[in-house]
Amino acid sequence: MSQLVFAMGHVKLNTNKLEEMIADSTDVLGLRVTYRDDTSAWLSSNGRAAELVLVEAEENSFNTIGLEALTTEAVREAASRVAGAGCTIVTEEPSLPCMAAGVTFDTPEGLRFEVHTPTTDDMYNPRYKTAGVGPRRLDHVNLMSPDPQTTIRQLSEICGMGLSERMVNDALSWMYGGNRQHHILGVVKGEVGVHHYSFEFPEFRMYCELGDILDRHDRQLIWGPGRHRPGDNTYAYYYDPAGCIVECSGPMALVADDATFQPRIITNLERPGNVRDMNVWGTPAPLEWREAHFPFAKQA
Ligand SMILES: [Fe+2]
Repeated sequence: MSQLVFAMGHVKLNTNKLEEMIADSTDVLGLRVTYRDDTSAWLSSNGRAAELVLVEAEENSFNTIGLEALTTEAVREAASRVAGAGCTIVTEEPSLPCMAAGVTFDTPEGLRFEVHTPTTDDMYNPRYKTAGVGPRRLDHVNLMSPDPQTTIRQLSEICGMGLSERMVNDALSWMYGGNRQHHILGVVKGEVGVHHYSFEFPEFRMYCELGDILDRHDRQLIWGPGRHRPGDNTYAYYYDPAGCIVECSGPMALVADDATFQPRIITNLERPGNVRDMNVWGTPAPLEWREAHFPFAKQA
């Protein structure tokens, strides 16, 4: 497996609640605004120029899933594979001026990805004043596709991503990239959209801070904290003001040797008997989480 994509690059959301989303992302999650104009904002949890990009719109929807490749050559190689995988290039210009190169493509299922070089990074400026918790970095996205096997094939062919684990009925699959963390994308079977986007909480105390900050805003977690079996990461989930679930996830298991690695196939689908196949500490997903869906922006 030759991974052209290394990690999550950025997530871009359309929202009709721009001010609320900025306030929530800074005062609860603990990002900082790195760029602002009348109709958009970039936010980051570290020295990177943009991890969460908000675009003012009439609707709340997912605009683009940004996947980070390490070099311009890798971006160009991914671009050369788009048509062969049955997808359509939207532009070969990067979507943000803080990226050297990018290619945006649509899938026939209604998803939009951008493979792009890393946003500019100020590595020695990782901390800043914030009222929120302050995660370490953007971690992963669980997208939703009506045809998971086709989406997995596209991501494998265009981005060189590998399958790390899947449920035998395709309800959920997980894919990894060059940084070898168990997944940078989850693929959920369902109407096209996104289930959640995730930032990394490296320390468990951060869940306590998150729950208490949500309480100060008279809000609550919808699930967690717990520990997933796939990825072996800790987790907690809450809703952002646009209506998309935000996950805060602990560091993941790594695919150390992908020459011999075999994806685990989860065959025990029976609830609640399979709870520890899915969640190590035995806390099952609530119905609200299982049925969550945030739409993807309609393609032109
Ligand atoms: Fe997740």
